[in-house]
Amino acid sequence: MAMKKAATAAAALGNQTLAARILYRSPLQRHLHATPGSKKIVGVFYKANEYASMNPNFVGCAEGGLGIRDWLESKGHQYIVTDDKEGPDSELEKHIPDLHVLISTPFHPAYVTAERIKKAKNLQLLLTAGIGSDHIDLKAAAAAGLTVAEVTGSNVVSVAEDELMRILILVRNFLPGYHQVINGDWNVAAIAHRAYDLEGKTVGTVGAGRIGKLLLQRLKPFNCNLLYHDRLKMDPELENQIGAKFEEDLDVMLPKCDVIVINTPLTEKTKGMFDKERISKLKKGVLIVNNARGAIMDAQAVADACSSGHIAGYSGDVWYPQPAPKDHPWRYMPNHAMTPHISGTTIDAQLRYAAGTKDMLDRYFKGEDFPAQNYIVKEGKLASQYL
Ligand SMILES: NC(=O)c1ccc[n+]([C@@H]2O[C@H](COP(=O)([O-])OP(=O)(O)OC[C@H]3O[C@@H](n4cnc5c(N)ncnc54)[C@H](O)[C@@H]3O)[C@@H](O)[C@H]2O)c1
Repeated sequence: MAMKKAATAAAALGNQTLAARILYRSPLQRHLHATPGSKKIVGVFYKANEYASMNPNFVGCAEGGLGIRDWLESKGHQYIVTDDKEGPDSELEKHIPDLHVLISTPFHPAYVTAERIKKAKNLQLLLTAGIGSDHIDLKAAAAAGLTVAEVTGSNVVSVAEDELMRILILVRNFLPGYHQVINGDWNVAAIAHRAYDLEGKTVGTVGAGRIGKLLLQRLKPFNCNLLYHDRLKMDPELENQIGAKFEEDLDVMLPKCDVIVINTPLTEKTKGMFDKERISKLKKGVLIVNNARGAIMDAQAVADACSSGHIAGYSGDVWYPQPAPKDHPWRYMPNHAMTPHISGTTIDAQLRYAAGTKDMLDRYFKGEDFPAQNYIVKEGKLASQYL
């Protein structure tokens, strides 16, 4: 009976004009565009405390609030900003039942679970100020008819530059030398026995989208052997210009690499991609840079391989969860060059993702579409690489 009703409805829909079809929404789908009136917008950002006032362009912190408070309030909207995001007593949780828009960043992720989505009866829009919306249960967001969008491209240069730095830090065995200086030591041999040139090494990126391509372009003058694996092959002209060879099979590429860089989003397909078995097949002494997402790695398998020396160096700024707990194994493993999640939140990046977030809010208030590449979930559908 229900099937028959659905079929009749679908047939009726088929007869509608295009204009009418655009207006059709499934009962689950919440309005994509702003309904009239004041909106409650909640932003979750890392707190800057004493650093907040040190730079007028430091807009990415809770105190800076992306620099959009005056603008939002002048339009009659309510803007609440917090860094308190975890657990039932958190500030974020208090606002979940009646917020319309949630802005969060990957640097201090507000984990938007299916349970929170269910509770958020007024929620329409989830904006990621930055790139990577894996902190949101995207399937639950799609099923609830929410829109999820990020500021695509906003910090790709910031991350590519940082990856290049991390590659060099690992290849040259830089950090132990730095620590010697701090500790009053001087031991050239302790550094030199495992320091190399980057020239002539094989560097492979897993994922060659915006960041991966920028990294490959930056690596070209170093005269490495450049490889990339991606769902999509670049067009031959670009591939030629970048000077990287496509590797269709990830497991064929990986054992060739002296340095592996991860540049895919965290999806169902990439979660735990580097498990114990895959790591065991990498070149002994491989270096890994991962600024993509911590959960692409099996955290314990990475720590074990660093301890055994199979991985000779691991560097990145992404962890799971974030902030990383005090007992996270990556804090204690040997030969790491880890930092908190910082690569995509340079001041330049902050200004770009703040402007991109403001632009999307403005379009949302006016009922306009966002730039197509910004959508992660739209009209119940996930962007193709998340499927
Ligand atoms: N550390 C940071 O501060 C920071 C900042 C920005 C982005 N990031 C991370 O980097 C990721 C990549 O960013 P981007 O701007 O380059 O994204 P992008 O969408 O331009 O590129 C991602 C690439 O990964 C490929 N890909 C996706 N799934 C794949 C799979 N299963 N196998 C092979 N290839 C796959 C896609 O085809 C695409 O080419 C983001 O999703 C985010 O997680 C981190």
